Amino acid sequence: MKQIDVTKLKNDFPILSRKIEGNNLVYLDNAATSQKPQAVLDAIVEYYSKHNANVHRGAHVLGDEATQAYEDSRKKVAEFIGARLPKEIVFTKNSTDSLNQVASGFASRILKRGGVILTTGAEHNSNLLPWLSVAKQTGAKVEFLTLDESGELSMNELRAKLNDKVKLVVVFHASNVLGTILDIKSICSLAHEVGAKVVVDGSQAIPHLPINVQSLGCDFYAFSGHKMLGPMGIGVLWGREELLEQMSPVNLGGGMILEFDLEDPKWLEVPEKFEAGTPNVEGAVGLAAAIDYLNSIGMQNIREHEIALSKYAIEKLATIPNLTILGPTDPTKRTGLVSFVIKDIHAHDIAAVLSQQGICVRSGMHCAMKFHKDLNLAASTRASYYLYNDTSDIDALVDGVRKALQILK
Ligand code: ALA
Repeated sequence: MKQIDVTKLKNDFPILSRKIEGNNLVYLDNAATSQKPQAVLDAIVEYYSKHNANVHRGAHVLGDEATQAYEDSRKKVAEFIGARLPKEIVFTKNSTDSLNQVASGFASRILKRGGVILTTGAEHNSNLLPWLSVAKQTGAKVEFLTLDESGELSMNELRAKLNDKVKLVVVFHASNVLGTILDIKSICSLAHEVGAKVVVDGSQAIPHLPINVQSLGCDFYAFSGHKMLGPMGIGVLWGREELLEQMSPVNLGGGMILEFDLEDPKWLEVPEKFEAGTPNVEGAVGLAAAIDYLNSIGMQNIREHEIALSKYAIEKLATIPNLTILGPTDPTKRTGLVSFVIKDIHAHDIAAVLSQQGICVRSGMHCAMKFHKDLNLAASTRASYYLYNDTSDIDALVDGVRKALQILK
């Protein structure tokens, strides 16, 4: 492992030198969105300053350069996640868009009355609402796997609930509330035994873990660029080539037609058939620059850095009276976030007092309403860190929470 030099690395992120009401910015809301290094900002400016044109359309030099940049970005993403082919990478707006496309374009084709979508009770709304909707539309059912307090799945329950009615297993890779990392490989091999396809919401895993979709063994993997140092508005849907071929496009329009026919239009091949309209070229270019940056640090190094930070954060937060940490206590079983609740104090009040000290965290239900309701939790406070955070940020958080408790008592 190579130790990450956080002090040096912070200088690559212009926003991290900001002051908030005289305090240094302590950014601990990375699970909502990450900050962007100068290299990503430069790549976007360079694209617009030198190469901007529409892609796959113009027969001119700028059109060729923009198309090249866009397709090079697709290749870079494919390599980063170990996809078999660049064409298995569909550029979308974000994870939400990717998951909605699988639900509307793929699940709607394979689900029938009585079919089952098996998922967990701790999904983000973006990996729950599209499945509830497609189930309603097709007469299928959504069934839930229970999670223990640390957010781990029982493989025995999964085995028991898998049968030939289950057509889809839909799970997060890492929980946005608990940080828990699921064993996707084992889930996929069990699901595949009954012929179910596995859709993984990778939003909270891809920024933090080395990912290889082929060794995970899943069928679809969705993520957003903005949580992994890239710009907002660019996301990825990876799917196995043969499944993307079976999937229908949800967005219809320019740039995805092979043969125009009023009765029976023919679509272009994968991935173009899913990318109607002018795509987010700037986003793809920025995402490629983000991947270069992450690769220059090394995903395994980022992982080790965050395990050490989780260990530190859990130990320090545990010293605060009446504070309960959600999720696994073993830092190797979680990604870079810690959510907690404090008896009789609302998470929003804690976040508001932290904000006055320049510390940014998220509070609320984190778009995982079902999970909070099941646990009878009104809300939780979530501190989520990344490669540019260090123990000084955790110390600021812990001191900040102590101050908040003095004020709110
Ligand atoms: N999905 C993001 C979060 O959990 C926005 O904060």
